[in-house]
Amino acid sequence: MIPRKFANRLVGLAILSVIVYFSWRPASQVKSARAQPLSQEAVKIAISNMRLRHPSTGSTADKKSTALMTLGKRFFFDKKLSANGQVSCATCHQPEKSFTDGRVTAVGIATTGMNTPTLVNSYFGQWFFWDGRSDSLEAQALGPVENALEHGFSRVQVATLIASDYKKEYEELFGRLPAALPTDPAVRLPASPHSMVSNEVAAYALATLGNQDFQKQVLKTAQSQSKQPVEILRTSSAGAPEPKTPFDQRPEAQKLEINIVFANFGRAVAEFERSIETTDSPFDLFADNVAKNEKNKGTNKEDLNSSFVAGFGAAELRGLELFVGRGNCTLCHQGSHFTDQQFHNIGLMALATDHVDLGRTQGMLIARNSEFNCRGKYLPQKSPSEGCRELEFLETESAEAVGAFKTPTLRNLRDTGPYGHDGRFPKLIDILQHYNHLAMPPAVGHTEELLLPLDFNQAELHDLESLLMSLSGSVTFFKGG
Ligand code: HEC
Ligand code: HEC
Repeated sequence: MIPRKFANRLVGLAILSVIVYFSWRPASQVKSARAQPLSQEAVKIAISNMRLRHPSTGSTADKKSTALMTLGKRFFFDKKLSANGQVSCATCHQPEKSFTDGRVTAVGIATTGMNTPTLVNSYFGQWFFWDGRSDSLEAQALGPVENALEHGFSRVQVATLIASDYKKEYEELFGRLPAALPTDPAVRLPASPHSMVSNEVAAYALATLGNQDFQKQVLKTAQSQSKQPVEILRTSSAGAPEPKTPFDQRPEAQKLEINIVFANFGRAVAEFERSIETTDSPFDLFADNVAKNEKNKGTNKEDLNSSFVAGFGAAELRGLELFVGRGNCTLCHQGSHFTDQQFHNIGLMALATDHVDLGRTQGMLIARNSEFNCRGKYLPQKSPSEGCRELEFLETESAEAVGAFKTPTLRNLRDTGPYGHDGRFPKLIDILQHYNHLAMPPAVGHTEELLLPLDFNQAELHDLESLLMSLSGSVTFFKGG
């Protein structure tokens, strides 16, 4: 029998959950007006907004940046940076697959729960990881190294490897390495602070869990441990707190030195990653032609057809009209990288039965608490990026963020399947079918109100797919070093 005190708590929670759930649903949102057929002019504007022009970097890179990229590239491909000597960044981010791995979820030291995102054009990003828990490429690069399932390495081991294999290159860029490094091979530092969401967010998440079995399990665990269900949910979504390690007990000055080396490792890797770019997709070649024709002839109905190139023809153009028009994809996949850099809940149903990923809600807290964020002492930003400015104003209590993930770029989808944050969609058509029906309750939180079922027929879905494929081009990256 449930002790009375606890039964009362459960009732209290249920009421709280319901109140929170309803009060948090956003006030009546304007339903997206299903657009009328698009004018030729509107299509042209969209094309011009989506055309990819990289800021010129490579050719003007100075000596220091070239040295930094060279070092970063070596780190990126170095398998010694792992517990078993088998895993490098490139294990999962393979250049020939547009820096992904073709797997449902990534495999390093062990199998992770997430799909490997592409790194193409990542210089433009503001937040990294599906939940945006890093606010710079530099900070991001530190995550996988200390993730037990990925590299399974530690920052002390990184510093030790740099001292043995990269001393000269490192010191030319960053100055002297610490005179003495810990020799204890067991040292590991807890990777990220244990960031738990608030009771209110947890109550909302609990009330909106799509998987009822998991919901029951949370209640049962709470009962057996005489805890509040919200407490169980908060703890399980934040992951187990990492135990104290020998590194924690080391003098502050030594921790500081190691963290500085670790941050510099991130700087080098990030500089290399910024060189990874896509070029010459059929869409961009078509868009270049449209721009040229526009200059020469002014607006004219035949312009678009006369701008076709191999890989971008009538089907792709129809797809584009659907993407911008009735499909409303540009609500989130906008601009030349096809992302608004924001986080949305697109209504993916629960697959896991024993945990829930709160997505952006958790990611915001981790980003804010990270000692390597843009406001910390290791990776401060001289001119704060958009993400860094946002860090100050994160809406950590927003219901919209619960179960939301980053809008991914749609560049080079040809190489980056399976799709979705957990790789649940084997083929592009599978995710389009999801948008077509939006039939299931999401794993947690609520599906973004602006997202409406497409109700496209097969031919329309096919056109949309053709457009998406036309956004794939060749991949270039820093070849020196
Ligand atoms: C075991 C496979 C694996 C390894 C090894 C790995 N990654 Fe990743 N990478 C992933 C996965 C999976 C994600 C998404 C994880 C998440 O969001 O929780 C990711 C995310 C990223 C992102 C964020 C991209 C975005 O758009 O948000 C970057 C950048 C990145 N990795 C770079 C690196 C670098 C640099 C290294 C080496 C230091 C590395 N990765 C090692 C699998 C891997
Ligand atoms: C409300 C914002 C929003 C709208 C509108 C939207 N998307 Fe998405 N899209 C996302 C987010 C967020 C994800 C990642 C979701 C996840 O994995 O949890 C995503 C994922 C995708 C992916 C998978 C990419 C990958 O690398 O895994 C494709 C393809 C895609 N969307 C295409 C479309 C198309 C086509 C449309 C229009 C019919 C569309 N999206 C409308 C936000 C949106």
